[in-house]
Amino acid sequence: MKRLLLLSFLIVMVSPALASAGEDGVKILNERCAYCHDLKGPAPQTIRQLWKRDAPDLFYAGDKYRREWLVAWMQKPVRVRPAGVNYLRAINSTPTHLKKTKKGRKYDVLWGKYLKPLQHEELSQPEAEAVADVLMGLTQHYDLTASEHFDASKKVTLDQGELLIDKVYGCESCHQIEPGYGGYTGSELYTAGKRLQPEFMLSYIRRPKNWDPKIWMPNLHVKPADLQKIVNYLILLSKEDYNASH
Ligand code: HEC
Ligand code: HEC
Repeated sequence: MKRLLLLSFLIVMVSPALASAGEDGVKILNERCAYCHDLKGPAPQTIRQLWKRDAPDLFYAGDKYRREWLVAWMQKPVRVRPAGVNYLRAINSTPTHLKKTKKGRKYDVLWGKYLKPLQHEELSQPEAEAVADVLMGLTQHYDLTASEHFDASKKVTLDQGELLIDKVYGCESCHQIEPGYGGYTGSELYTAGKRLQPEFMLSYIRRPKNWDPKIWMPNLHVKPADLQKIVNYLILLSKEDYNASH
């Protein structure tokens, strides 16, 4: 009953804003997705709410994702968070279990060897297109991305980028920059450039808590010039083909 009430509430909330974006997408989202994914915000405001979240928030999907990635992912879903959304349940960060990276930093490991493979609904191509249209219209955090300007001329090599991510800022203690290489708390960064809009990456890395007030990612006070280099690096990194070379 509670769930039904919540669903009807969401249908009322989401429909007016999205009326022009295509009936099917709205219907699919409300009926098949909204009971797991938050489509209206705000992000969890307390630790308690954060640990109740079992699926990524989608209410600012249009400020965050690249449409092509969404369309492809929804037809063939794969895990992008090696320890799942609720990473605290899956990772072991007790000091004796920490692994060392090449440069001597330590990162978390999973309690078990692997999480279960992701069980996620697969959409047909027309469904994925319709849903992506609606998701790309969810732009509650446009205020945060509108002020960001990505500078594609601040190119780096893979080695220079890895140095920034690993040695200078220690992002690798929580994020993988290659399958199996890096920590498990955050999402995989080797696909970030394909998944995420550059302006979102700039804004999120600059101040993660603007997006998600209780998230574990700290503000690492990345220098503006390094921020542009890191995002250029993540885009370059996402062009590597891991199936072929690893
Ligand atoms: C039973 C809960 C559940 C339902 C229902 C569900 N999802 Fe998900 N979804 C998840 C989880 C969990 C993830 C994250 C997977 C991961 O990273 O390991 C996810 C990830 C996603 C992502 C990728 C975003 C990202 O950053 O990882 C998209 C897009 C998505 N879901 C769309 C949908 C759509 C569209 C529907 C409805 C057709 C739907 N989901 C239904 C649980 C759910
Ligand atoms: C203490 C752990 C930690 C550190 C250190 C850390 N992150 Fe994160 N990061 C996270 C978590 C947790 C998230 C949220 C993932 C999610 O939404 O599921 C995140 C999210 C992100 C995202 C958004 C990814 C997405 O898929 O939504 C980017 C980009 C990112 N981090 C880059 C970085 C960079 C670059 C650094 C270093 C400057 C860094 N992170 C350092 C934990 C960390």
